[in-house]
Amino acid sequence: MRRKANLYRSTTALGVALMMLMALSSCRPSATSTEEPDNRSNQEILFDDGNFAMFIHFGLYSKMEGEWKGKRYYGNAEWIKHQAEIPADEYMKEAASFNPDEFDAEAIVKLARDAGMRYIVITSKHHEGFAMFDSDFCDFNICDATPLKRDLMKELADACHRNGLGIGFYYSQWQDWTAPGGARGPETDAEGRKVTFEEYFRNKCIPQVNELTTKYGEIQLIWFDTPGELSKEASEELVALVRKNQPHALVSSRVGNGMGDYDTLNDMQVPLVNHEGRWEGIDVMQVGWGFSKFDNEWKTPDYIVHELVSVVARGGNFLFNIGPDSKGRIPEQAAASLRETGKWVKKYPQVVYGAGASPWEHALPWGDVVTNKGKLYLVVFDWPQDGKLWLPGLQNDVTAAKIVDGKKLATRKEGTWTCIEVPYGRPDQLASVVELTIDGEIAVDSTPAVDPNENATILPIEFATTEKCKVASNEWMEKFGEWKFKASVSGITAESKVEWVVDFKEPGYYDVAIECRGDGTTDWMMCADEGNTIVDRYNLHSQYAWHRMGWLKIDGAGKHKLSLSVTDGNWEQVGIGSISITPVKLQ
Ligand code: GLC
Repeated sequence: MRRKANLYRSTTALGVALMMLMALSSCRPSATSTEEPDNRSNQEILFDDGNFAMFIHFGLYSKMEGEWKGKRYYGNAEWIKHQAEIPADEYMKEAASFNPDEFDAEAIVKLARDAGMRYIVITSKHHEGFAMFDSDFCDFNICDATPLKRDLMKELADACHRNGLGIGFYYSQWQDWTAPGGARGPETDAEGRKVTFEEYFRNKCIPQVNELTTKYGEIQLIWFDTPGELSKEASEELVALVRKNQPHALVSSRVGNGMGDYDTLNDMQVPLVNHEGRWEGIDVMQVGWGFSKFDNEWKTPDYIVHELVSVVARGGNFLFNIGPDSKGRIPEQAAASLRETGKWVKKYPQVVYGAGASPWEHALPWGDVVTNKGKLYLVVFDWPQDGKLWLPGLQNDVTAAKIVDGKKLATRKEGTWTCIEVPYGRPDQLASVVELTIDGEIAVDSTPAVDPNENATILPIEFATTEKCKVASNEWMEKFGEWKFKASVSGITAESKVEWVVDFKEPGYYDVAIECRGDGTTDWMMCADEGNTIVDRYNLHSQYAWHRMGWLKIDGAGKHKLSLSVTDGNWEQVGIGSISITPVKLQ
């Protein structure tokens, strides 16, 4: 299973792909600059330079492993109370038989280190309300309510501190499904008295966050989640509390109300273009965050490396989740996949640690680019078959090129393109890395460019300019909690304009396809600015699908505007996701 960084997850049809940005861009400096004094805190350094971290979802839900009373639940296993509609008192009784006595903090930390991860964020209290630490403010916790009676947050924090990893705690501040007054929780207490959210916040949330930030040594960050209807004052109070107890700990943006020290993007979202500021992309080893015994969709090392590189190349940190099982064990599939990922990370540390975003600001058809200490690292997922790797738009001269830890490579310029002569066999099965030393400050023209090799170059609608139609970003869940994202154009009329500016290295024929949806017969036209036009007719359905338009002739090399229009049919229902362009090789 290979995930294309440059595709939203739902795009499958055309394989190799490209993401692109319309404007010229300049490069973002790499995160570490050796010349300037480094005044950052430990936590900032771990975050800014570490770039890769482990997320752990572990709670009472892990005991159920996706099953309740013989019934299977799919997707977010940590939501089983909600999915199976288990009453709060019945759910709470489960703690009495929750005994994850094989939880081994040292082994988890070792696995994180083997994977090349620099800090760990673990759920200390998820929406279910169960604290995985010893709390004086609510007995529904691992020390008071289970036979285990071990403060697992302490064990993990200590193991992280011993081994030089950062430790951060996830805390669900708004939802609490078992504490009276918590969002989606019981409205009354045991005596039948109505409890307000304010009471829950005062009596459980604030005291527990205080415990987490005072009892466990230096904390990397507090990862709040689902702020829901939390007031601005409540978010401010949480931030102030963390600041008071842990002046250097970072706070995630999910504390709500626009606060926090860094942005957490949507679950499973990798941005198409570089994202400014401190941020993290998050994804998960199975489909859901808590362990499920029914979920076999383990991510492969290939997927994890691709996603890690994509997030780092867009300028962010990658927080990747595993869920221990009911005994506290890390599933073997997860451990094996992470260890393999770590071998790759250790081979190419400069691609992860201290690495800066791609000057192209989007992925390229064969992979992605990161910067480090002024050098460019080309991470190649689809190794060229003809010995030529084409880099579009680099304005600098290349003074040296090599395969990382390998052979020197020759390069030459052909107009705005840099050709890197590479061996035929791919050097690394997971992803090969080419290092370029360049002359001067990196300067790149990041106009979308069609790969001269036989790769399909995919141009999502985000890279088009549009007029008289609507571009909307759509998100939906496949399974419960399994988010997908896709932008599309709708509201098309005869006057609408959808145009991509694309750079072509050679004149010739290019095979064009459209990813679209609709309802019934629809006629389409694509015109290149030189006047060449192709038309076609499709019977469209409600799901996105790829439809081939065929050969479009490009007369001259260089940048061209391609305009796509719907000329007849049920305009109302048409959605356009992407186009793809593939050179037709005739000799
Ligand atoms: C969502 C879910 C939650 C999960 C989190 C991870 O907010 O509610 O179960 O912990 O995403 O990002």
